[in-house]
Amino acid sequence: MKQRYLIGVAILAGVALYSALGSNALPEGPGRDLVLQKCQSCHEIGFVTRERQSRERWDAIITEMQGYGMRLSAEERAVILNYLATYLAPGAQAPAPAPQAQPASVSGAQVYNNCIGCHQANGTGIPGAFPPLAGHVPSILAARGGREWLVQMMLYGLQGPISVKGVSYNGIMPAYAHLSDAEIAAVLNHISTQWGNSFPSGQGPFTEAEVRAQRGKNLTAQQVLAARQQLGLR
Ligand code: HEC
Ligand code: HEC
Repeated sequence: MKQRYLIGVAILAGVALYSALGSNALPEGPGRDLVLQKCQSCHEIGFVTRERQSRERWDAIITEMQGYGMRLSAEERAVILNYLATYLAPGAQAPAPAPQAQPASVSGAQVYNNCIGCHQANGTGIPGAFPPLAGHVPSILAARGGREWLVQMMLYGLQGPISVKGVSYNGIMPAYAHLSDAEIAAVLNHISTQWGNSFPSGQGPFTEAEVRAQRGKNLTAQQVLAARQQLGLR
């Protein structure tokens, strides 16, 4: 029994990540709310969502849980059994896959695929249409407030006349607020370190916290343009 308990704890730990998303893995259907209410007071709902069992087996499992002390009225028991036997039957598909937890490390190069169409794979942009990032991002980083501004520009976009290395641009840089904090930090780190670019001395990589700090400001792309004028870029 003790061993069994220990195994249970090990499983609990193992499925912790999965079961954080586990309630998403319970298909919609009559009785779902009751299952959520009754079946995760002693363990994670992942104990339930990973199973695919026959009605007989679910019946036995519920009896087992009652043996562990789960209290159910006869009606509740019938509703739960019907739900489990219908939606977690052998062969039942998991519903739409639960959203993946953000991987610990996001690849900036991968996020940069969103940018290539305009700024080009080699970061040179297209003169007159899309400004270069190669040889240019470090001067933004070095400007006072430049780091914050880069995050704002990613979140809220940029629109209006600018000049980069003597070339004029008047286009639209799309907003990327739909990317996660980690993705925005990763792509900023990418463009800060590619093509010979590097952080000015004393500056480290962008963090998720730095990105988060600029969310919720709800700037317009024009306000980002006005803020750019304060940076004193040449
Ligand atoms: C009173 C506490 C309690 C409640 C409430 C409870 N369980 Fe459990 N459940 C347990 C314990 C204890 C285990 C055994 C863990 C082990 O074997 O290590 C377990 C294990 C399980 C397992 C793993 C397989 C097995 O037979 O051991 C399943 C499946 C399961 N529960 C389903 C449910 C379902 C479905 C509900 C809701 C109807 C539910 N549990 C509610 C205590 C509970
Ligand atoms: C649809 C084309 C397009 C895409 C896609 C795009 N950009 Fe831009 N980007 C622009 C334009 C145009 C500007 C200049 C806006 C202006 O003229 O005001 C700009 C400006 C910038 C600037 C600021 C340059 C400066 O000196 O102000 C940076 C940095 C930048 N983009 C990075 C990125 C990154 C990183 C991505 C991908 C996540 C990206 N861009 C995706 C078109 C694009």
